[in-house]
Amino acid sequence: MLAVAVLAAGKGTRMKSDLPKVLQPLAGATLVERVLASCEQLAPERRLLIVGHQAERVQRSLAHQAGAEFVLQQPQNGTGHAVQQLLEPLRGFAGELLVLNGDVPLLRPETLAELLAKHRQSGAAVTLLTARLADPTGYGRVFSDGEGRVSAIIEHRDCSPEQRANDLTNAGIYCFDWPRLAEVLPRLTTDNDQGELYLTDTVALLGSATHLEVADSDEIHGINDRLQLAACEARLQQRLREHWMREGVTFTDPASCTLSDGTRFGRDVIVDPQCHFRGASVIGDRCRIGPGCLIENSQIAEDVEVLHSVIRDSQVARGCVIGPFAQLRAQAVLGENCRVGNFVEVKNSTLAAGVKANHLSYLGDADLGANVNIGAGTITANFDGVRKHRTAIGAGSKTGANSVLVAPITLGEDVTVGAGSTLTKDVPAGALALGRARQWVKEGWAARG
Ligand code: UD1
Ligand code: CA
Repeated sequence: MLAVAVLAAGKGTRMKSDLPKVLQPLAGATLVERVLASCEQLAPERRLLIVGHQAERVQRSLAHQAGAEFVLQQPQNGTGHAVQQLLEPLRGFAGELLVLNGDVPLLRPETLAELLAKHRQSGAAVTLLTARLADPTGYGRVFSDGEGRVSAIIEHRDCSPEQRANDLTNAGIYCFDWPRLAEVLPRLTTDNDQGELYLTDTVALLGSATHLEVADSDEIHGINDRLQLAACEARLQQRLREHWMREGVTFTDPASCTLSDGTRFGRDVIVDPQCHFRGASVIGDRCRIGPGCLIENSQIAEDVEVLHSVIRDSQVARGCVIGPFAQLRAQAVLGENCRVGNFVEVKNSTLAAGVKANHLSYLGDADLGANVNIGAGTITANFDGVRKHRTAIGAGSKTGANSVLVAPITLGEDVTVGAGSTLTKDVPAGALALGRARQWVKEGWAARG
């Protein structure tokens, strides 16, 4: 039987933020979501989240986590005090307790599996995760003999200068035998520099501890301030990019691009500098993205080119060319081989195959048939000041430059709209529609005296 406890009650004073530390985002997911995800593969019987500082907010953000039990720690008197709160909910539980610091988000699931396996095979009361850090400042130091037996963990601030020279670092990730931990938890004292109850002190009390040293010390980086947050973001981004490069994506300037866990790429995609992918986006085979794009929660099919554009919550079919400087948002749905060019915004609209909107347009709440040609500066006026209305334009229609289509309005197929028209009434198929003042010319005006 395995129970997992995530320590997520702390304030995160060093972040200097109104947001609880465990809710800080990292590559699109919060720290605590990442920590929870790292132990999912172990399929624990119980998942306990210790919350305290802004408990409700943390709890609300995790409402979608089925089967999570929230345990309140009030006030927050240290990591040992946090785990003491489990004495009641885990009464009678006879298995292992995996304790995860809520601010250590780069752990690999395989590492946790290895920790659990080592713990089960060693028979120790606790097995903790360690690493040798080039700069262990701020972390607890682990004291072990040559055989891997751990005698104590001493916090950085409680260490003597000689003890600080020890670079074996406590990750804040532990696998305990719960009944044995439950016995020593009440014996913790606040005899330390912070006057808190330290979970790390249970190691000496248990008298039977071993450790697993991770090869990749990046995994154990904790986040206490924004510098460490940025460092972890950089490591995570590197992991994501390396993964996709191995899967056949070319990044011409990898370090300038950011991805999220939910980003998916096909083969032979080329990503040029300064492109950012957020949420769950799928980029099809042979797309060329960038430079300078933001793509969020969108599906882009094969052979699409996007240059200097923003695409959010939208779908783009095969062969489209987007940008430079276009914006698709709020369910813009483009059929195959559309062309949405310079300074064109498409919002909550469907464009059938082959539509061209090349310059300076707003297409909002509109449905365009196949091969419609939108002239430069065409605007769908979708808002009457109170409500939004739709515009429909039949297949094969063309709008002249600077047309305003005042919705609700329907243009049939093969309609031609004269340049500079403001249309407020429907137009039947095959018609020419003009809605503008007739031009008049007064000759000799300059010489009128
Ligand atoms: C802790 C360890 C340290 C280790 C480091 C690894 C202790 C005493 N020290 O130090 O040995 O090297 O993690 O990152 O455990 N929390 C609560 N309730 C509290 C206090 C903290 O839930 O009362 C939570 C925090 O939200 C956080 C985690 O516990 O997620 C760790 O707390 P933090 O104060 O960051 O501990 P460190 O000083 O980093
Ligand atoms: Ca920490």
